[in-house]
Amino acid sequence: MKPKVYITRKIPDEIVTKIEMECEIRMWNEPEIPVPREVLEKEIADAEGLFCLITETIDRELLEKARRLKVISNMAVGYNNIDIKAAKEKKIIVTNTPGVLTETTADLTFALLMATARRLVESSDYLRRGDWKTWSPMQLTGQDVYGATLGIIGMGRIGTALARRANGFDMKILYHNRSRKYQIENELNVKFAELETLLKESDFVCIMTPYSNETKGLISTRELSLMKNTAILINTARGGIVNEDDLYLALKKGTIWAAGLDVYEEEPISQDHPLLTLPNVVTIPHIGSASVKTRLKMAELAAENMMLVLKNEQPKNVVG
Ligand code: DGY
Repeated sequence: MKPKVYITRKIPDEIVTKIEMECEIRMWNEPEIPVPREVLEKEIADAEGLFCLITETIDRELLEKARRLKVISNMAVGYNNIDIKAAKEKKIIVTNTPGVLTETTADLTFALLMATARRLVESSDYLRRGDWKTWSPMQLTGQDVYGATLGIIGMGRIGTALARRANGFDMKILYHNRSRKYQIENELNVKFAELETLLKESDFVCIMTPYSNETKGLISTRELSLMKNTAILINTARGGIVNEDDLYLALKKGTIWAAGLDVYEEEPISQDHPLLTLPNVVTIPHIGSASVKTRLKMAELAAENMMLVLKNEQPKNVVG
């Protein structure tokens, strides 16, 4: 008998076909609406495999309802949506999809940095509104990227890929990380700095660290006040790493110059969130890994990890 799996969102047909060869599938068939909690609670009861996204909260209470679950395969590199401790206690293996999204997410981070520095969204809106009457010397002037100082908080795979891009722009690169990365320091000409130094010296601060109890609210009023008033904060990691109320005030008062955000404390961010009223914020809806090729690779890897566990084989990417 094929093992039963539950897939929490409509995923590409070619991946469904692959999973179907080895598993009995049930799937939440909506592409844009997350599976309701009560449906997930019911479906998880007899599933042996769960293929889920960052939009599902897989907490202890939910796992208590899972009688046969062997694997939770998250289609994401981040897994802060899953209670890893509870899963471990229940001997459920948790897997993620690192590696395949590194370059795509670094591309987006650099694009967001450039768009924020050069006020691309604001400029486009200005033109479309019909406000462009003439060329003028200081009109829509931004900050230079070439030759500026970039501070990377979290020198993992994506942080490293970002540093490679920044080298092409002749940026001076500082990084802060729990442990020193000597090889990367040598290869990419990046310099380790304490967080305080990085915040004080950087023109761009990019958050690239995972979300955890340690990094929750890492960037709050104190840290923002250490930054230059011409500095730009970029966050493509997880929203909770930045205190959004503090960020709003810092942007409003001019403590820092601008922010580029792909992630939020609450997702989707509410339409009346004060951050959305500020012209010096570039906001995009958590699309770091969103290229056609990369999302397919992520789905494929998540499927592969899940099926390996169900065949009692070693999955490629275990977390926890
Ligand atoms: C992840 O993988 O953790 C992203 O946030 C979604 O690509």
